[in-house]
Amino acid sequence: MTETESGKPLVVFTPSGRRGRVARGTPVLAAARQLGVDLDSVCGGRGICSRCQIAPAFGDFPKHGIHATPEALSPWNAVEERYRTKRGLAEGRRLGCQACILDDAVIDVPPESQVHRQVIRKAASDREIAMDPATRLYLVDVEPPDMHHPSGDFERLSAALSEQWGIAAPTAPLPVLARLQQALRKGDWQVSVAVFDDGTMPPAILGIWPGLHEGGLYGLAIDLGSTTIAAHLCDLATGAVRASDGVMNPQIRFGEDLMSRVSYAMMNPGGAAEMTAAVRTALTDLARSVAADAGIEPALIFEVVVVGNPVMHHLLLGIDPVELGQAPFALAASGALRLAAADLGLAGIAETARTYILPCIAGHVGADAAAVALAEAPDRSEDLVLVVDVGTNAEILLGNRSRVLACSSPTGPAFEGAQISAGQRAAPGAIERVTIDPVTKEPRFRIIGSSRWSDDPGFAEAVDRTGITGICGSGIIEAVAEMRIAGLLDASGLIGSAEAAGTPRLVPDGRTHSYVLHDGTSTGGPLIAVTQSDVRAIQLAKSALYAGARLLMDELGVERVDRIVLAGAFGAHISPKHAMVLGMIPDCALERVTSAGNAAGTGARMALASRVARSEIEATVRRITKVETAVAPRFQEHFVAANAIPHARDPFPELARLVRLPEVQFGAGGGPRRRRRG
Ligand code: FES
Repeated sequence: MTETESGKPLVVFTPSGRRGRVARGTPVLAAARQLGVDLDSVCGGRGICSRCQIAPAFGDFPKHGIHATPEALSPWNAVEERYRTKRGLAEGRRLGCQACILDDAVIDVPPESQVHRQVIRKAASDREIAMDPATRLYLVDVEPPDMHHPSGDFERLSAALSEQWGIAAPTAPLPVLARLQQALRKGDWQVSVAVFDDGTMPPAILGIWPGLHEGGLYGLAIDLGSTTIAAHLCDLATGAVRASDGVMNPQIRFGEDLMSRVSYAMMNPGGAAEMTAAVRTALTDLARSVAADAGIEPALIFEVVVVGNPVMHHLLLGIDPVELGQAPFALAASGALRLAAADLGLAGIAETARTYILPCIAGHVGADAAAVALAEAPDRSEDLVLVVDVGTNAEILLGNRSRVLACSSPTGPAFEGAQISAGQRAAPGAIERVTIDPVTKEPRFRIIGSSRWSDDPGFAEAVDRTGITGICGSGIIEAVAEMRIAGLLDASGLIGSAEAAGTPRLVPDGRTHSYVLHDGTSTGGPLIAVTQSDVRAIQLAKSALYAGARLLMDELGVERVDRIVLAGAFGAHISPKHAMVLGMIPDCALERVTSAGNAAGTGARMALASRVARSEIEATVRRITKVETAVAPRFQEHFVAANAIPHARDPFPELARLVRLPEVQFGAGGGPRRRRRG
């Protein structure tokens, strides 16, 4: 035994590296507490929750100056044996609350035993989120009632929580009080409680169960978009996503885009309330379906985090969005909101569940943009980053460590395949990738649901089940960009005629021309063509996006950005090269254009997992400079200049290094036009 001068063994915890001397016989869990090591416990050392599992290491550890033997810890005990027989315990693992330190020891705390384990790690933004949930589970032993010292069961539970877990003066909503007496007696005065403590109000008991509750605690992270609503069901102890699902936003029947929904609210008495009811029902159904997918009781969902644009935000809250439809675009409340989920009419989940709604940045830049800022952290970026969340409305953030600006730009739904003649939402059968041979002008494409290109052998068989049904957002972007690269479309966006551009795939369409991508009419399928009005719709959408980005660049006084992040589920499918050929985004080295996937959803998950993330984003949003596109005169100017493909004025040197755009020009009828000089 290597007793030290102080007579206390030395213990080193890995991976934290925390070390110190503890009294001989100290349980590992207690030693961890003393040394500030993150080791979980729900049962408080009663040997029944197994959250405190550790893995002792034996041998020579010169780095730590320790030679650890199996005798460094107390022998395997009856509690551990019982746990192993009943539930199983992996080889080499001990229960930290049972194993006591007898000699110098090196003890590893595996990730699943760490309360604050890392759950979200984003290399691009140098971002790590550790579990720090607002709702946690605690096992408590409560004094039985005593006639000679009368006190309420809740008061004794409260005293036990304070004594055993340091949770002082909790509150309990009525549904918990109603269940309290039965739970205490059924559990023989031992109960598990789910305590919500987000640091902004007294802790609240949201759930109570007799004995040890082993069903878990769950939360929902919801990205409430104007077109789709996505939900992730997360385990509040581990951060693991147990199920995800998405549905169309049922408000679409009241208006395709945000402004048409605001108009619906303005024109129809009770219209806002109708839309509120529709979205709340959708969220309730979605909660039920993700819980069913994960095989858990919806009543175990105790927290809901919602992100959404300002109109969605107001409609969910039951606030008439009429003020958001006109200058000065005042929000009813812009800060983060902490509410009872029942107040939002979310049914089926725990009656006591809490909701956290991220702050809105401005009247046009919502909690979804705040969630993107949380996930992508432009405020921590060394270089100047442009973050674009592409959807029906584009949310745009530009900045670095010193300053972040935000705006929103009304791109409309063209990027999602709407307002496009053969457009459709991204679903099996939709053309999603397109290339056009610059010499033969022949297209090849790929559809969602098959990895084969249209000129690959076996393509027809591969798409037999889905058919070729239309073209989705990423498909139309690639098609228009490829038409520009192949010289079928000039910089002003005019499609050439068959004679002028050299392919019979260009067919007359009224006074304009269309490019036939796929003609399925002989087999009863659709004719999928890119029409002149499709190109115009894409031009309008991309001009809005570019003008928004450019406006922020003006505000910051820069001509270039260092990198671009395309966020949003759609952003994940856009090809950076094609986006740049179209001039959707400013010129930038292509390898510095990355996709962040559903960053708003990731931000919502971060806020669900971590109280620190919530306070961080609240502080960040207060520092973001809001730029209002609707009232900026320069926006219109930028919008007009951005109509050309890629742009009327701005140079695209990085793009020019990779792609040569032919200098074709077509007349109004699609025929060749002599190029003007200068
Ligand atoms: Fe619960 Fe050890 S703390 S089993």
